[in-house]
Amino acid sequence: MTSEQVALIQQSFAKVAPISDQAAMIFYDRLFEIAPPVKAMFPHDMTEQRKKLMATLAVVVNGLSNLESVLPAASALAKRHVSYGTKPEHYPVVGSALLWTLEKGLGSGWTPDVADAWGAAYGKLSGFMISEAYGQSQAAE
Ligand code: HEM
Repeated sequence: MTSEQVALIQQSFAKVAPISDQAAMIFYDRLFEIAPPVKAMFPHDMTEQRKKLMATLAVVVNGLSNLESVLPAASALAKRHVSYGTKPEHYPVVGSALLWTLEKGLGSGWTPDVADAWGAAYGKLSGFMISEAYGQSQAAE
């Protein structure tokens, strides 16, 4: 990822930050629409979950310019997800719901360059998380 891509991600995430709870609602609605069985893995009351997701995304987005700083936390997060029943194949589905949410939230701000930057960042992060949690052979990249 280039430093321009990091800047695009940080600037675009800053635009959804003021509506982060709404963005998280859109995200989970979309996730459960495209992957209905995943809904049963989550608690009934999603209030805290929405906050945790957006807070974690904020940490990752802020840490992108110094990726090494977020890798230990991302590794631990990935390993906790194994006990939530998360499988490697869930990661692309979550990525698709995330990018869809950003597209809705950003409107005309969702340019091809912004889309490429988010796609690259999620691909990198999820590939790392999958390899940490399930071993190198399962990694997407
Ligand atoms: C980069 C990708 C992801 C991020 C940043 C993320 C973030 C989080 C965070 C912050 C939590 C709160 C608990 C904790 O910190 O351990 C959580 C819980 C959870 N996540 Fe994720 N997650 C990601 C990918 C996934 C995927 C691919 C799935 C698969 C469906 C998933 C399903 C869950 C479930 C089921 C819980 C637990 C809910 C509960 O029982 O309280 N997550 N996630």
